[in-house]
Formats: sequence, structure tokens, C-alpha cells
Amino acid sequence: MSNTFDAIVKRENSLLCNTYGRYPLAVSKAKGCRLYDLDGVAYHDFLAGIAVCSLGHSREDLAEVMAEQARKMVHVSNLFYQEPQLDLAEKLLNTCAADKVFFCNSGAEANEGAIKLARRYMHSVKNDDRHEVITLEKSFHGRTLSTLTATGQSGPIKDGFNPLPKGFVTVPFGNVNALRGAINAQTAAIMIEMVQGEGGVRPLPSDYVNDIVALCKENGILLIVDEVQTGLCRTGKMWAHQHYGITPDIFTSAKALANGLPMGAVMCTDEVAKGFAPGSHATTFGGGAVVSAVASKVLDIMVTEKLAERAWDMGEFAKAEAQKVMAKHPDKIAGTRGLGLLFGIELTFNGADVWKALLENKMVCNLTQGNILRLVPPLTIEKEDIVTFMEVLDSILSSVEIDPA
Ligand SMILES: Cc1ncc(COP(=O)(O)O)c(C=O)c1O
Repeated sequence: MSNTFDAIVKRENSLLCNTYGRYPLAVSKAKGCRLYDLDGVAYHDFLAGIAVCSLGHSREDLAEVMAEQARKMVHVSNLFYQEPQLDLAEKLLNTCAADKVFFCNSGAEANEGAIKLARRYMHSVKNDDRHEVITLEKSFHGRTLSTLTATGQSGPIKDGFNPLPKGFVTVPFGNVNALRGAINAQTAAIMIEMVQGEGGVRPLPSDYVNDIVALCKENGILLIVDEVQTGLCRTGKMWAHQHYGITPDIFTSAKALANGLPMGAVMCTDEVAKGFAPGSHATTFGGGAVVSAVASKVLDIMVTEKLAERAWDMGEFAKAEAQKVMAKHPDKIAGTRGLGLLFGIELTFNGADVWKALLENKMVCNLTQGNILRLVPPLTIEKEDIVTFMEVLDSILSSVEIDPA
């Protein structure tokens, strides 16, 4: 076993299924807002494990909670009552208008659960065979068969997986008439992200959201909000839907919930929760004692350290700094977008080379939709980190040749 980068790549190629286009970086350690490569070289982390490690990496306080709970009880199954799960449920439901929660293990599983809940509510409570779910173009909802079908994108995410499940319709983003036209007697739910993350950091316009809510009400359709990426302070509120003053019937969470341990949650109103009954939905690992204890601590920290407000302020700071860079490179930056620390910088050209140069300069971020630099750093990021990123971006843009997208 060797720990050179090339040896690691070779080893992985011989061992793992080839599903990831990995970044050319092997991470040996992560702490706070930094990742470290094999030689201990530090990288500024503006990715946070893809909007997961919102409190920063490898925290002592979370490690302590994890270790303490692991010594008491790790897994006994959902056949038993377990207080860590209830403590978390109470804290989580205190942050929103939902009444009930179902715990699972990932974003896709949470969305899958939300879709199942909507269908079963219609079937078992409303005695209706409504089952279709309408989603938006460029949305991303996960990679299980149902959630990839719900996802409003084409390409490798869908290629070769036919037949895809029935009961999903995707409509163009921002077009209320298209949405109205897609609603029929079979429609059970409309599922949206308040800010499309993978789809290019696109917040939904308020008027559009109001129209969606009105259409749901008029037609007896459930509103599902996918807060897997936007939830838990990332956008400047505990939940992104709270920016819009709406109350979804069902919403999902995952990524930041246990700061890197796998956890997901489906939250819903008491009314919709009637759709599930014992035996209708379950998971072996969901809501296990260790992840629940860690997620409880995560929520405590988010609330006491006012991380939603911090995310908002840092997002505004990042926007102002990015606009300074934009003023110097108006031909290369088209604008900024996002909410809070779900922040995007829109380049006017394909950004692959800029993204690569950022990484070479020890700045880790993500490129979505070919030209959007997506920054989803830990919410604990410091202003100096943002300033450093923008300085590096500025110098890269000064030297980069535009390669038309
Ligand atoms: C909005 C949204 N929904 C669902 C998912 C899927 O989550 P997971 O990868 O945990 O299954 C993601 C992941 O990026 C996401 O951003």
C-alpha cells in the first residue's frame, strides 16, 4: 500500500465501481474550513462535503457526542423506542411548522419517503388514486429510481435505467401556465427546491412560489419541498421555505443534519402523516442513536450560534466581494445568485478551466451546469476566507482565456 496520489488512483480503479468523476485531490484530513492533501497541504473548503459539514470538519464537540453515544448504544433497530430519536424530533419540529418526522439515511431516501407519503396519503386518507408528482426542469432530487425520475435533468443520471417508474411529470422552470397545464386528476403533489442547487444555484422567484402554493390549494395537491441542500441554516433561515412564508405539506432534509454522518428526514403535517401506518414505510438504520445524538447537538449549535443569521451575513459579504471581482471582469462574470451561503458565481463561459485553476490554487468549490461556480462552505467560514477566494478568482480571471460555452 502506497500513499502517493497516483498509487491511490490506481488502487481505487481496481477496487471501486467507476461512478465518480473525482477531483484530482486525495484528502487525508479535514478540520474546520480546511481540507488537507496527502502532504498535509491545506485547501480552503468552499464545498463542505457538498453542503454537508455546515459546522466545519472534525469538531471535538460532535466527536465527543458521537463517542459517548457509541459507548451507550449504537443500533438496536426501529423495533424499539429510543430517546435520542425523540430528542432530535422535538428539536427539529421546533424549528418549523411541521408536526411529524420520519428519519432515514440520505437525501434520496428522504425524497423517496416524501413521494411515498404523498401517494399513500391520497390513497389511504383521501381514497383517491392521485399519484403523479410534478417537478421542475433542472431540479435534482436524488438517484434512486423514483427520485432520478423526479429529477428534471437528462444525461447520465437517467441514461440506461429504463424503464423508469411512472407517475412523474417535469415542467419548465418559472412557467406557471405549463405547471397549470400539467395538473390533472392524477396529480398528487408538486415537488420543488426553493433554490435549485445542482441546477445552477437558482432561487425560485417569490411570485412563482405563491402561484405554486395557490395551484396546490385550488387543486387539492400536496406541496413537497426538497430541503436536502437548502435546509438547516444554509440559505440564511433554518429552512429555505421560511424565506417565502409558506408551509409545505411535506418537506425533506438530509445533508447538514448530522454534519457528515448519513441522515435524512421527512417532515410533514399531522394531516399528511396519517398516510403512513405501521408496515407502510420503514428503514433499518434511520434515526439510529448515534446519528440522532449528533444531529441533536448540530441543531443546538445551529440555534445557539445563530448560524442562519451568520450564513445570511456571510452570503451578503460573499456577494459584495464577488461583485467587486465582477466589476473588474464584466466580460467574464455575468452575476451572482443564490441565498445565504448557497452561493453561485455565474461565469459567461464554460468554467472548467477556472474551477481547475482554483483547485490548483488550493480553493475547493464546485462547478455546476458548466458555468456556475457553486460555493457551499461551512457556515462557520470567516470573512478572510471569502476575501482570499475572491483574490484568487480575480487573479485567475485576469489570466484566463475565454473559452465560449
Ligand atoms: C436538492 C437535493 N435533493 C436530493 C439530493 C440527494 O441526496 P443524497 O445524495 O443524500 O441521496 C441532493 C444531493 O445533492 C440534493 O441536492
